Amino acid sequence: MLAEQDAFEAEREARLVKAVYVYEAPLRLWHWINALAITLLGITGYLIASPLPTVPGEASDHYLMGTIRLIHFSSAYVFAIGFLGRIYWAFVGNHHARQIFLLPLTNATWWGEIIHEIKWYLFLVKEPKKYVGHNPLAQLMMFLFFTIGAVYMICTGFALYGEGQGIDSLTYRLFGWVISAVGGNSQQVHSWHHMGLWVTLIFVIVHVYAAIREDIMSRQSMISTMISGWRMFKD
Ligand code: HEM
Ligand code: HEM
Repeated sequence: MLAEQDAFEAEREARLVKAVYVYEAPLRLWHWINALAITLLGITGYLIASPLPTVPGEASDHYLMGTIRLIHFSSAYVFAIGFLGRIYWAFVGNHHARQIFLLPLTNATWWGEIIHEIKWYLFLVKEPKKYVGHNPLAQLMMFLFFTIGAVYMICTGFALYGEGQGIDSLTYRLFGWVISAVGGNSQQVHSWHHMGLWVTLIFVIVHVYAAIREDIMSRQSMISTMISGWRMFKD
């Protein structure tokens, strides 16, 4: 009985060593709220640009376009305030919380590992490397497509929103410079903001593919890590 207990304890310890706490609760909660907000922004943004067929009756009765825009703007606030909260967490959270904001650009090993990860994703190497936080390629892509992308969508989106609210609104005073930067032609800002939808969509497709692929192939946990916070390693 005692031997069995010892074996159980030894097994438990071995399992514990192979698990590292990576993503803290606020970061995980933000990840899933942010994913939901971006999904709603993508769908409603697409419908703003390519509206559904006209519905019979007074527009104010069915309020279809109004509801689509309301969902777009409410999700936009969740997305933007969530992003501010995520920046705050980069200051107070653990060091993995800073990975999508700060790149170790002068570190040659990091660049070397990016090359390795590209080969790994192209099925050119057989052995996966293991990382506690994001792998260097994921980190670079998240910085370029998510961190920069989020700032871009927030600035172009709030510029358009501010224009609707009027040039003396606080939103226009904060973001109106985006419209001035393209010569005061807000149709151009619509087009630039719209283009962001396709960039975001490509990021999300590649990101979800990579998360599922890594979960299956890299012998370390991925999706459950963004749920529980713990990274588990298999031999
Ligand atoms: C990932 C984030 C976002 C995506 C994918 C997205 C997507 C889109 C798309 C595709 C359009 C249609 C553009 C056009 O062809 O005219 C649009 C319109 C718009 N978006 Fe976003 N958007 C995002 C974030 C935001 C944010 C943060 C705001 C800030 C308030 C915002 C405000 C607006 C406004 C005001 C319009 C114009 C609405 C209208 O003309 O009726 N968007 N969005
Ligand atoms: C609109 C959808 C999504 C967006 C914009 C998004 C964005 C992000 C971002 C920015 C991070 C970095 C987290 C940080 O360090 O703060 C991340 C991590 C992660 N996401 Fe997503 N995500 C989305 C959907 C999903 C979905 C649907 C899954 C699951 C299938 C997923 C799985 C993961 C995983 C596993 C990580 C951690 C990867 C690692 O440990 O290296 N994401 N995501």
